[in-house]
Amino acid sequence: MKETILKRFTEVFGDAEGVKVYFAPGRVNLIGEHTDYNGGHVFPCALTIGTYGAARRRTDNKLCFYSMNFEKLGVITSSMDELTASKEAGWTNYPKGVMWAFGEKGLKIPCGMDLMLYGNIPNGSGLSSSASVEVLTGYILRDFYGFDVSNQDLALIGQYAENNFNKVNCGIMDQFAIAMGKKDHAIFLDTADLSYTYAPIALEGAKIVIACSNKKRGLGDSKYNERRSECEKALAELQEKVEIKSLGDLDEEAFEKYQSAIGDEVRRKRARHAVYENQRTIRAVEALQKNDVIQFGQLMNASHVSLRDDYEVTGIELDTLVEEAWKAEGVIGSRMTGAGFGGCTVSIVKDAFIDAFIERVGTAYQNKIGYQADFYVVEIGDGPRAL
Ligand code: GLA
Repeated sequence: MKETILKRFTEVFGDAEGVKVYFAPGRVNLIGEHTDYNGGHVFPCALTIGTYGAARRRTDNKLCFYSMNFEKLGVITSSMDELTASKEAGWTNYPKGVMWAFGEKGLKIPCGMDLMLYGNIPNGSGLSSSASVEVLTGYILRDFYGFDVSNQDLALIGQYAENNFNKVNCGIMDQFAIAMGKKDHAIFLDTADLSYTYAPIALEGAKIVIACSNKKRGLGDSKYNERRSECEKALAELQEKVEIKSLGDLDEEAFEKYQSAIGDEVRRKRARHAVYENQRTIRAVEALQKNDVIQFGQLMNASHVSLRDDYEVTGIELDTLVEEAWKAEGVIGSRMTGAGFGGCTVSIVKDAFIDAFIERVGTAYQNKIGYQADFYVVEIGDGPRAL
């Protein structure tokens, strides 16, 4: 890939003098959905697919962006002096947002950049292509200018850019999973205080299979922010009765005890999901530690049911993929992953059944939804790096 992107860089920018090539992964979340902005736990991992970037410093303040995924757009130019988000700026809002965020944090970027990207994460699929670009940009800036920031800081800066530049109110999970990724490990992260441990994912005789629904969605125009505010409101109602900082502070029993404080059935369902999903995530990691993959899979299935019925973020596409997966032989667990409203599902499937799984779920999806789903057998990879 390094050679391909350098060759294209030379074609587009004239030469590749002083260019360095970098990579940042995408991520998939195994369990712990819509818990990261509720002070709960998540359990994501970085993937071996992600975003490649070829970059070099400029002597002026210009920013010249080019994406091999959107060749028709050509070179998109901007300047370090006009770091503002706009609809026309398209994908370049992500690297620009991170450059802006560095400035906001007092880390001054002295000059512009030529940046070419190539991503092999399906766009808008819920595998965090945008967080991958954000962490990649931060990594490049640190490498160019020697800023004293850790990988965890790169995650926080990426989230800051997403929240304040791109106005998507996401939690920390995606940027954290990408910046802190570790080969063959998932990250058990407590979003209440950012404490985390790495859990080895040794799926003897099984693999992670991602099914992309090809139903496009953007977080900005989804109901993501609406779910967040429903949870915030439910939390405020609960706080009238019980001293908690976040929904993640409650276990199931405490929730059942205090839930009547929430004045509306819809908000009660949202909060119930946040509380139960957090507890499920803790139990899923315990199951994995005991090598109980069956229990882990059952908790994945229960996670989907809760996201479908209580959080209502699935939709017919994701439900079809998951419900067909549940019927297929050799499936340990299957659920939607990411924000929902389209995007992907994640399944753990025994090696011997993967081909039959793809055939069965793919055909049922095509028949019911009318277009195709794409399948990826993925591996867990490391975080960002220079190549
Ligand atoms: C998106 C957000 C994350 C998280 C998930 C849902 O991926 O970016 O912060 O909230 O949705 O778990």
